[in-house]
Amino acid sequence: MSTKDITITVNGTERELSVEPRRLLVHAIREDLDLTGTHIGCDTGNCGACTVYQDGEAIKSCLMFAVQADGSDVTTVEGMQDLPEAGMGRSDDLHPIQEGFRQMHGLQCGYCTPGMIMAGKALLEKDSDPSEATIRENISGNLCRCTGYQNIVKSIQYAADVFNDREPPESPVENPDSGGTAAADGGVDCGTGCGCDAGVDLDREYPADTAGDGGAER
Ligand code: FES
Ligand code: FES
Repeated sequence: MSTKDITITVNGTERELSVEPRRLLVHAIREDLDLTGTHIGCDTGNCGACTVYQDGEAIKSCLMFAVQADGSDVTTVEGMQDLPEAGMGRSDDLHPIQEGFRQMHGLQCGYCTPGMIMAGKALLEKDSDPSEATIRENISGNLCRCTGYQNIVKSIQYAADVFNDREPPESPVENPDSGGTAAADGGVDCGTGCGCDAGVDLDREYPADTAGDGGAER
């Protein structure tokens, strides 16, 4: 099949690609540009795992052909630490939304997280201090099978606090005495309100990534 030459600015760098007209943007991002932080959960526009920030909007990159992105400006989760807002919070290098997910335990398996972060970025670019209802509406196209969404909302609220010069809440994970509660097994309650008594073990060691793909393929 014939290919078309396109240029997309990705995370601030112009990238030239030669793609088949049928190639989806998400596949170009992951396979041609090797930016596997953008995930694929469904390929049908339902889950939001593939969400990236394009020309001021959160878009599902499985619903766009790469050729349609020609000339556009795309930010993926890998580019968040290069944005001017990075380091505004307590961390020296993380973007406030990334820091929010970390501090407020906004993830469990992490599969939805890059898409949630990009949806959160698009929202906070338009409304730096959204209500909880607005946050929930703006992430309604992004599915999370783990968290129950409570801490994802708190993570985006954390970033809004940073952007509005308010002191964000203490992390219930890193500072269990500041609001988190001890779980029955001695770990820290993750705060999702799920009702289980298994705590978050901050010292847990995870097995090595033997597939070498960062766990991105499932
Ligand atoms: S992979 Fe794009 S919405 Fe699920
Ligand atoms: S943290 Fe597992 S899908 Fe959201």
